[in-house]
Amino acid sequence: MSSNAQDTRMDSCPVAGEEVDLGHASLMDPGIHAHPNAFYWAMRHEQPVYYDEGLDMWLVSRYEDLQTVLADPITFSVEAGYAEQYAKGFIDEFKAILERDGGGFFPDAIMTDPPYHTRIRKLMEGAFTAHRVKALEPDIAQVVSELIDEFADKGAADGVQDFAVPMTIRIICAQLGLTDFDPDKIQRWSLAVTSQIGRMQDREQMRENAREICDLQNYLIANIRAREETPRDDLLSDMIHARAEDEENPTLTFKEVVSLARALLIAGNETTATALGNLLYILATQPELADAVYDNLDDDRYMTRFVEELLRLEPPVRGLSRMTTKEVELGGVTLPKGAHMLNLYASGNDDETVFECPRKFDVERPNIVRHVAFGSGVHRCVGLSLARMEIKVAAREFVRRLKDLKLEIALEDIRYLPTVATRSMASLPLSFSKR
Ligand code: HEM
Repeated sequence: MSSNAQDTRMDSCPVAGEEVDLGHASLMDPGIHAHPNAFYWAMRHEQPVYYDEGLDMWLVSRYEDLQTVLADPITFSVEAGYAEQYAKGFIDEFKAILERDGGGFFPDAIMTDPPYHTRIRKLMEGAFTAHRVKALEPDIAQVVSELIDEFADKGAADGVQDFAVPMTIRIICAQLGLTDFDPDKIQRWSLAVTSQIGRMQDREQMRENAREICDLQNYLIANIRAREETPRDDLLSDMIHARAEDEENPTLTFKEVVSLARALLIAGNETTATALGNLLYILATQPELADAVYDNLDDDRYMTRFVEELLRLEPPVRGLSRMTTKEVELGGVTLPKGAHMLNLYASGNDDETVFECPRKFDVERPNIVRHVAFGSGVHRCVGLSLARMEIKVAAREFVRRLKDLKLEIALEDIRYLPTVATRSMASLPLSFSKR
């Protein structure tokens, strides 16, 4: 563990970290889990499609191989990969609890393969237009401003718990039209849902999580029923009443709406909160970037590129799963049918064959939008306009109001949530002063 995991031609660039000897290295290793970039580098250079024994999954690390997987959603199935992960080991008991106490078991309609997925996606996108997001900018700015008001005078706050998490919960609830929400419950519900693909829960935790998900579904069902007769001006109503004219089944079923509302509430909250935590981390640890943002607050081109580079350098979603539906060759490895894979978007964003000097924050990169922080292909993130807008407005308002942002704990004391799907800080103590 002496030299560093970086090409010699990259000598002047920030390095990925201490060299990792692949051997039996695993993403489950706490050190690698917290600081994975050197592990990604070693895989890309030695075994780009690497079998991780600890996870029992094939890790796809190169940009090019990720593109191959993402371009072929039939060979590399989301549905099969997701089913393999979901409530692993406890699926029958989990289903029974939801059917008894949670209004039913509603499989994730979006975590499916074409052609079923194509219909769902069309109906969802129709409801979730970029236009609607643009109109939300002043509301997002208002939420950011209110949150900053709550801690600006104190000179200190937790960037994750006092800002990132409450901000994203308020925004996604406003989008969906959920006005009577309890933020603590939503945080618990998110954890309960994401635990089902985290591969780390035991039976007792599964039962507790199932109880939380019942509570979540009952809450959503009441809100959906209230909009069936009388639509409101919100995303939930738009999904319930969405129509695709050329389809055999032109509307979403009740089961599909419940599952999509659940997916949006959770996906719209965990990932964006992680991105906002990363934003504050970058601003606190690279003060020259905070100064650059301040100098360019009203320059939309700069702010847009700043957001893209943040997403490339610190991608909130580390990896999501797929399963092969037939034997297939990828990155020099023959994968059997039924191979469970993890698409490492975070490693793709770090691939030096695509992004020169990848560990450097560079808003002037010519190919800045090629990153895969939102995936690619038919499953590319449906909420990306909303996510980008939230990050941009948060960066602008935070830097406009506060300065001298500093981390109040040592870098090595930052703790990450125990999941391979995202790389999310549990908390981020910060200090600052008012401008
Ligand atoms: C910075 C924030 C976000 C990041 C980094 C992110 C990342 C991703 C990624 C990587 C995927 C691809 C999944 C795959 O390849 O299997 C995805 C899909 C998805 N995202 Fe996001 N996301 C973010 C925010 C959001 C928001 C705000 C919403 C909703 C309001 C959302 C809803 C979804 C949904 C429903 C899918 C599934 C799409 C499909 O399979 O067709 N995401 N997201």
